[in-house]
Amino acid sequence: MLTVTPTPHPSHPLSQMAENGFCVLDNFISPDTVLCLAAEISALNSDDKMQAARTGRLAATVNLKLRGDSIHWLDENQASLAQLTYFKEMESLRCQLNQQLYLGLHSLECHLALYPIGSAYPKHLDRFQLHDDSHLAQRQISCILYLNQDWLAEDGGYLRLHLNDDGVTMLNIAHLDIAPIAGRLIVFLSDSFYHEVLPTHRARMSLTAWFLNRQTH
Ligand code: OGA
Ligand code: MN
Repeated sequence: MLTVTPTPHPSHPLSQMAENGFCVLDNFISPDTVLCLAAEISALNSDDKMQAARTGRLAATVNLKLRGDSIHWLDENQASLAQLTYFKEMESLRCQLNQQLYLGLHSLECHLALYPIGSAYPKHLDRFQLHDDSHLAQRQISCILYLNQDWLAEDGGYLRLHLNDDGVTMLNIAHLDIAPIAGRLIVFLSDSFYHEVLPTHRARMSLTAWFLNRQTH
């Protein structure tokens, strides 16, 4: 298996974004914040407040019947302390991405996610297939923060990032398998990279976000 060399944070975190269209940032957020966010997922799950991802707002996308996670959308106006810390880091990331990649990223949508044992998410793209004349804001950048302590190779649940389906990267490999370890953030262009979650053999927690461009009128 290929090992990913994480980009150091925060010195030049995003240099690989411009080069390859994706990057991996380890220790994106403090271990305490990671623990708090993971505890929030556990609590929401015990209270039956996680919703099946195949229903609701994302029902129009493909492959949802096979998608096994449950999610909880976050609202910055009702954020916990740990979530506020996260939103602050993401705002700083948004500014850096806009400066370095000239993207015009405007807003963020994000949800906590829990993949139970045995679940997966088949290969897909994060950008909705909208009509060319649609004025809706589009997902530009996908960012997934992992919240799993002591993840082992045999736990599975890798994020498989397909690299050459569109000939988007210069790397001469078909895909990267990225372990969902605590504090790791993976960032990639939403319209360019097919990806999937391989079957997980342990409950797998994450906070998934998308930066959107501005809606046009
Ligand atoms: C998604 C997704 C990947 C992951 O939520 O769209 O692809 O590693 N998640 O959790
Ligand atoms: Mn996805």
